[in-house]
Formats: sequence, structure tokens, C-alpha cells
Amino acid sequence: MRSPEPNVPRDSEDRWREAVLTAGLAVFDWDIPGRRIYRSPEMLATWDYPEGPNEAVDAARSVIHPDDFPDFWARMTELQGGTVERAILEMRMRQRDGAWRWVRWRARIASRGPDGRPARVVGTVNDIHELWKGRDLARESQMRLQGIVDSAMDAIISIDDNQRITLFNRAAERIFGYEPLEVLGQPLEMLIPGRFHGEHHRHVEQFGRTGVSSRPMMAQRIVTALRKSGEEFPIDASISQNEIRGHRFFTVILRDVSVRERTRRELAQAREDLRELSVASRTAREQENSRISRELHDELGQNLTSLKMDLAWLEANTPREDAKFLQTLSAMRAVLDSTVAATRRISADLRPLMLDDLGLAAAMEWLAEETSRRHGFRVELAVDEASANLAEPLASQVYRIVQESLTNAGRHAAARNVRVALRTIGREVHLDVEDDGRGLGPEDLRKKGSFGLVGIRERVYILAGSVEIRGDAGQGTVIHVRLPIPPAEGGAP
Ligand SMILES: Nc1ncnc2c1ncn2[C@@H]1O[C@H](COP(=O)(O)OP(=O)(O)OP(=O)(O)O)[C@@H](O)[C@H]1O
Ligand SMILES: [Mg+2]
Repeated sequence: MRSPEPNVPRDSEDRWREAVLTAGLAVFDWDIPGRRIYRSPEMLATWDYPEGPNEAVDAARSVIHPDDFPDFWARMTELQGGTVERAILEMRMRQRDGAWRWVRWRARIASRGPDGRPARVVGTVNDIHELWKGRDLARESQMRLQGIVDSAMDAIISIDDNQRITLFNRAAERIFGYEPLEVLGQPLEMLIPGRFHGEHHRHVEQFGRTGVSSRPMMAQRIVTALRKSGEEFPIDASISQNEIRGHRFFTVILRDVSVRERTRRELAQAREDLRELSVASRTAREQENSRISRELHDELGQNLTSLKMDLAWLEANTPREDAKFLQTLSAMRAVLDSTVAATRRISADLRPLMLDDLGLAAAMEWLAEETSRRHGFRVELAVDEASANLAEPLASQVYRIVQESLTNAGRHAAARNVRVALRTIGREVHLDVEDDGRGLGPEDLRKKGSFGLVGIRERVYILAGSVEIRGDAGQGTVIHVRLPIPPAEGGAP
């Protein structure tokens, strides 16, 4: 200020300084040959320069943070030597109140002397402390986010508009077997089996067009992914999208569900095996019952019948006056009659031979007559034509369900009317047993030591059907059963 620059006209320099003053800028103007620095009033007011002559070059040493000073001095030396045209540095400076603040310092060579060496360097100081704090916060929240992303159990993968991987967390490394460096910047398709590439690409693009922010991938279908080892595995994935400064990016969160899937399949298989085993064991039992039943009916029945005929002959040929003998014969006939009846009953309980000989409809008719006679209620039976000769194993199971339902109606319901309806609808048989008795409650369905209703449910379960048992108090009970007709059997013949 006091000595004019060698090659700058005095009035122009004054005008420049006036402008600086008006704008309130923190600027400096270094006269290199003169070894002095002009500092603007704003510069001096803000930063803690020592009192006294402000032109001293090394006054900077007392306002710049000791850690940052070497860098600063190196830049100044470069400018002074003319090896660079300009320099920028972010460093800490001390304010008048003693606080250190981050500033951005810029300087450039403003003019050179006739020898070409720098003569004047000008520059500015801007307080960027708030910006720095913001950047610190951003860095901190970035680190916190990274921590969360990395501690997640699920794999998190981000891709850009070109479907190239931009983020790959620890779980993703573990699941896919890749290091981040192997995948970052690579197309997402490296994680998907080749045959799904087209479909996948379309899916993401289409999703991008919807503008929806997030949704599960392929709603109910499990997507297949590819490990580094080449192994394919099922995943559960959801995708979300965000737009930052015009760039769309997608984040996929996914879980390896191969263990879950395997367990689910094994469980389903075990259930199916168990069901088949139950069917087989029930069928074997029915066959065994059928054999014993027939034996009782044919062998025992025949013998008892011939005994009865012999007894009748004896009675006919015994002299009238032998009263004692005749009495014994009569008593024998009574025992024989009840033995025949018992044999029939046991044989029918084991398995109604009618089922094998005359078909389901006839067997149900006989059952309805028997129970209504025994319990004293009316049974209304309706069997449609398609169900009349239902094949095994359905026929036996339907018969047993009807038998248990009618017995229950007799024992518990105090019913007056029971309706039994059997119909074939499409590939299913529908059985309804409905009484007008006292009805049953939820507690009846879980009664300890009662196996009738449990048995019905089990029979239905092993035939892969469904059953509904309803009974409001005083409204009677309804048992509705639906059983699929196995394809091989073909339902009605
Ligand atoms: N039709 C019905 N009306 C009213 N209550 C019923 C009817 N059927 C069943 N119940 C009630 O439900 C209970 C359970 O029936 P379930 O057939 O399972 O066993 P149970 O008949 O008592 O014994 P069992 O094991 O000999 O069949 C019965 O004890 C009865 O209280
Ligand atoms: Mg019962």
C-alpha cells in the first residue's frame, strides 16, 4: 500500500483495494520483492494477526494451525518460486476469539517482474468451518450406515442405472462367496444363473419405470441366485429404488433360503410319506377285517346253520312225552340263535360284507336301518348314482365315517331325525351327516378319551380331504366331509 507495485499503476491498485473494502472480503496481496503483505480490514478483523505492522510476511505463522503451517509454507514457497500459478489449501486458522476454524485459502500469481519471476501474489481466505462440520457429520453418518449395512444378516447389494454393483455388504460376501473388489463395478448378472438374465434385466427395468419405491421381487416366487462356486441357491429378495441427482439406483436385500426351502420340502415329503403309510396300514387292516369277517360269516355261520338244522330234526323226532329232553333242545336252540346273531353282528362290525358284495349305497342303507332300529330315530339317506359304487379306499372310509356319525347321533344327540347325503361333485365326494339333536360345542371336539371325531378327522386327513364339524347348542350337529377321488380309482365305475 505504501509502496506501489513496480508494474501496477497506483490508481488501479487503489481502486482494487477499495473494491475489496466495500465487499468486505478477506484478501491478501503479497509484494514479493518488497517482502510485505497487504491484508484487508476483514482479514485483520476476523483472524488473530498480531498487533503492529501488518505487512510482515511471517505474521501468518501465528494465525495458522501449527499442524497445517508446513503445508501452507510449502505452497507459499512454490508460488514465490513461480513453479505453480495457483494454490488451494484447506487449513485451520485462529479467530480473534481464539477458536480454530477451517478455512479455504486460495492464492495465485497476479503479476511477474521483467525477469519473469513472480512479483505479486493475491489470494482470499474463506471460512468453511460449517461446511467441514457438515462433511464430518456426513462422514460419521456414512460410517454409521456402513456399520449397520455390514452387520445386517441379510445380503444388501446396490446397483446403479446400468445394473452395476456399487455396494456389497459382509452378508453378501458370505452368501455369494465373493470379495467386494471382485464384484464392485461388475454387472449384477454375475450373481444370477445365465438362463434368468433376460428375465431379470426386464424385471429391474420395468420396476424402474413404475417409480414404486420398494417391493418384493417376484412376489411369491423364490428367485434363484448363483454363488462364486457355481452353486445355485434359492433366495427371498426385495428391491427398492432411489433417485439421487437424476441417477437412479436400486438396492436389493436378499436372504439365502436354501436351508428353509430344503426343510420345507423334507417336511412336506415326510408328511406325504406318513400319509401314504397310514393309507397302507388302514387298507391292510380293512383287508384283514374283511378276511376274518368272511371267515366268521361263511365258516362259523355255515356250521351254526347246519347245527340249527340238526337241532330242528332232533326236535321233530323226539317223542312228545320226553318233555325234559325237549326242554333242553329248546334251550339249546335259544343259545344257538343268539350265537348266530352275535356272529353276524361281530362279522358286520369287523367289515360289512355288503360293502364288498353289494356296494357302498347298499351297505349304507343297511347301516341306516340298523342304527335307526337300535336308537329309535329316523334316518333319511340320499346317495347319488355316481357315489353308489364308490371304489376303495374311499368306500370303506366313507362307510366308517357315516357309522361313527350315526353312532354319535344315537349316543349323544338325542336326535329325532338324521339326514345323510353322499354326492359326487366333480372329482370330489361330499358327505353330509346332519342331526336335529342337542348340538356340540368346541369342548366336545377336544374331549379326552374320545376318539370318534378324532378318527373321522384322521381318515379325512389321510385321504387328503377336508372336514368341518359344526354344532350350535340346540341346533343339531353337521358333519361335512369332502374327499378327493384319486385319479387311478376314477370314482364311480
Ligand atoms: N351328534 C352329536 N350331537 C351332540 N354331541 C355330540 C355329537 N357327536 C359327538 N358329540 C359330543 O362330542 C364328544 C366327542 O365325540 P367322539 O365321537 O369323539 O367321542 P365319543 O363318542 O364320546 O367316544 P368314542 O371314542 O367312542 O367315539 C362326545 O362325547 C359328545 O359329547
Ligand atoms: Mg363317538
